[in-house]
Amino acid sequence: MTSFRTLDDIEAVRGQRVLVRVDMNVPMADGAVTDDTRLRAHVPTITELSDAGAKVLLLAHFGRPKGEYRPEFSLEPVVPVLADVLGRDVIFMQRPDNDAIDALPDGAIVVIENTRFAGGEEKNDPGMAKAIASFGNAFVSDAFSVSHRAHMSTEGIAHHLPAYAGRAMQAELDALEAALGNPEHPVAAVVGGAKVSTKLAVLEHLVTKVDHLIIGGGMANTFLAARGVDVGKSLCEHELTDTALAILEAADRADCTVHLPYDVVVAKEFAPNPPTRTVNVHEVAEDEMILDIGPAAVEALADALKTCRTLVWNGPLGAFETPPFDTATVALAQTAAALTREGSLTSVAGGGDTVAALNHAGVAGDFTFVSTAGGAFLEWMEGKELPGVAALST
Ligand code: 3PG
Repeated sequence: MTSFRTLDDIEAVRGQRVLVRVDMNVPMADGAVTDDTRLRAHVPTITELSDAGAKVLLLAHFGRPKGEYRPEFSLEPVVPVLADVLGRDVIFMQRPDNDAIDALPDGAIVVIENTRFAGGEEKNDPGMAKAIASFGNAFVSDAFSVSHRAHMSTEGIAHHLPAYAGRAMQAELDALEAALGNPEHPVAAVVGGAKVSTKLAVLEHLVTKVDHLIIGGGMANTFLAARGVDVGKSLCEHELTDTALAILEAADRADCTVHLPYDVVVAKEFAPNPPTRTVNVHEVAEDEMILDIGPAAVEALADALKTCRTLVWNGPLGAFETPPFDTATVALAQTAAALTREGSLTSVAGGGDTVAALNHAGVAGDFTFVSTAGGAFLEWMEGKELPGVAALST
């Protein structure tokens, strides 16, 4: 495992300036933050540093303004929400300024305007990294969800200052290590979602790492079709037949059991609560589409999970946003949650729709760890080295 320094290793921060990369890329509607989960994740790091007397200078991006100032991407509206979440004052600065920072009391918390307003951020410009680093005495990264970006504030800056993982980053890296780095076997992975094409690298990597690969969502249709099943009108990437077969062969070689559904829930239209049938995968009619996996498959998957010690979950098993096609995802998530509560399973989930699916199932709080990262979680599942994590390694 890559080793990294944490806040436990920072000494004598009173009066020191600590630059902290956080993820303030929160969902917003009409200029108001609609979900503060990501902000809450940073509370332990920010309060710990502030309580220790550091001047906490927060660096973050918002959206993709592409290197120019665009008011709709300002971080200013997020500042009062962060202050609320922290229960402390938070100051906003358009740009870091030595005199203004000197004048701050120890423990002050500052948000610096969107790092992506400067072109050097995404280009990871060494000059910008050096200039921004000069405002701090130490660098803390608490934003795993941006660590797949080799940007100035996630990677470049770490070359100029002593660098540490914040508490959220540390929790994330520890959980990921327990799930795939050095997990207890047997390990199961659930990979769902619409398209195989977006998760090819994930599947290719996982077959070499896990004992059970559970494929759900539209992706399963591509695998079923590759095995000669007629999937009717289902979402299916027929052009990926060879790729799907190669993944199945690689799984065989690696002794990884791939679980594809053998019963499915089908409908003629994709709408809430249409007439449905639960059928064997070989009985899908020409004008039907597969929208969820069936109850017999869910039971078999639950039995497989009961034999496992570790689970990593990315993506729903069916079209979970449209009832009743959330049934399989909810049922298997509840089984995983129950096994986690009993202490027999370490369960780590993350990426895209996954948090929404687990919240919908009412079990996000029961998983061992749920990551709010999207792209970074997927790249980690692909086995890639994340530049923002590598920059912290000692
Ligand atoms: C995210 O929202 O997943 C992170 O903040 C990264 O944002 P990005 O995809 O715009 O780099």
